[in-house]
Amino acid sequence: MQKYLRLYLITSLCLLSAAVLFGLVASWAFLYPETYNKFLPFYQLRPFHVSAALFWIISAATCGILHYKKEAFPETKSDNIFAQLFIYTWIGTIIAIFVCYGLKKFGGREYWEFPPVLGLPLLISWLLLMCAYFIPLLKTRGNKPIYVWMWTTGIFFFLITFIEQNLWLVPWFRQSYLRELTIQWKANGATVGAWNQMIYGTSLYLMVKISGDGKKAQGKTVFFFYLLGLTNLMFNWGHHIYNAPAASWIRDTSYIISMTEWVFLIRMIQGFRKTLEEGRKLKHLITYRFIIASEFWVFANLLLTLAMSVPAINRYTHGTHITVAHSMGATIGINTMILLASFSYILGIDQKSEQLRKTIRFNFWLCQFSLFIFWIALIAAGVIKGYRSVVLNMTSFQEIMLPVMPALKTFSVAGIGVVISLGIISVVYIIQAIRCKEA
Ligand code: HEM
Repeated sequence: MQKYLRLYLITSLCLLSAAVLFGLVASWAFLYPETYNKFLPFYQLRPFHVSAALFWIISAATCGILHYKKEAFPETKSDNIFAQLFIYTWIGTIIAIFVCYGLKKFGGREYWEFPPVLGLPLLISWLLLMCAYFIPLLKTRGNKPIYVWMWTTGIFFFLITFIEQNLWLVPWFRQSYLRELTIQWKANGATVGAWNQMIYGTSLYLMVKISGDGKKAQGKTVFFFYLLGLTNLMFNWGHHIYNAPAASWIRDTSYIISMTEWVFLIRMIQGFRKTLEEGRKLKHLITYRFIIASEFWVFANLLLTLAMSVPAINRYTHGTHITVAHSMGATIGINTMILLASFSYILGIDQKSEQLRKTIRFNFWLCQFSLFIFWIALIAAGVIKGYRSVVLNMTSFQEIMLPVMPALKTFSVAGIGVVISLGIISVVYIIQAIRCKEA
């Protein structure tokens, strides 16, 4: 593995550690504002946490793609230069963003709360990534496996949605609050679709590598499912604009479309699990386990979103912690699990000592267990809050939150397990990356 990719992999893991740590402190700041407001208030911790989490996901996904593309299509020297420039400008901008948060300089919109001027280096750096990816892709002849289609779609659409996210800088989009809000949330939803294409493509690539069966990424059926994913990317954002007035058929269609993407992932993983030879599974057991964990979380989130999509239930759940359970359930349970599978494969964790594998196995289970309680506690907090405000018609925030607090305390305590397990896995992987020899 080249030095610059190692640096990128290590930075991504540092972002994961930062995300879980900031998340934990943010949960304390929410529970005990009187103590935390003096030095690190929730409004400051939330952007730290959410940006670290989003940059972890996007960086780890692109790090994997840059590594795998060497094999997927032949590399040339000029692409390396673009890849290096991308990595240095991307990491530099992320550091600048955290410095701004530290100085309480905000100014952006939800999830991208840094001063908007920093969007420019992010944009430039993404264009560099596109050069690093598309130059060798266009030079490679022949039919491409579906994971290449998925990576390509994800990288391209991320550019479009990133531009869309920044349209509010043009005064016309700010003239109407509704227009700005709708475009903003539409773009946020489509960005998730874009990174899902990169991550699910990575998952398919890993399944091909582990099983040794290239046919898993070829043929009409898998191409149909790719098209389904693409439809998702383009239209699933409808469920992100629930608060904006829209025709009910738009909401219903987008909700049905959002479910289909997960059905695709479940089908892909189940097919892989059923046909995988035992010997190959044992050879890649840790990578395999992370992929299978993502399957469990797809199921769990599918159930939750199905429930949330029933209008009678949505009435109670909207704007409660159930929405947070949905976003963290997906970003930790699905995205983070696949990305850790990818890093386990890149670092060859399954070929390391028994002691090291034992540490990862233990923390893997600790993470699944704590995450499950963490997720259930958030759902419980949402149900109680929804019930008290909608059914009991309570209006005083203090009164509504009284029985919600124990659920949020449980969430925070379970969060410690998530922090410890993901923190230890990150540190072990960082050490392995430092020891990794240059390719
Ligand atoms: C890989 C790990 C994690 C990822 C990817 C992640 C991701 C996210 C995302 C995307 C949000 C925004 C949710 C929304 O707006 O609906 C969020 C919010 C939040 N997360 Fe995490 N998270 C992680 C770990 C944690 C941990 C370990 C804790 C600690 C208990 C935590 C606590 C919080 C809190 C308190 C919020 C704010 C909720 C609110 O605004 O009401 N997160 N996280």
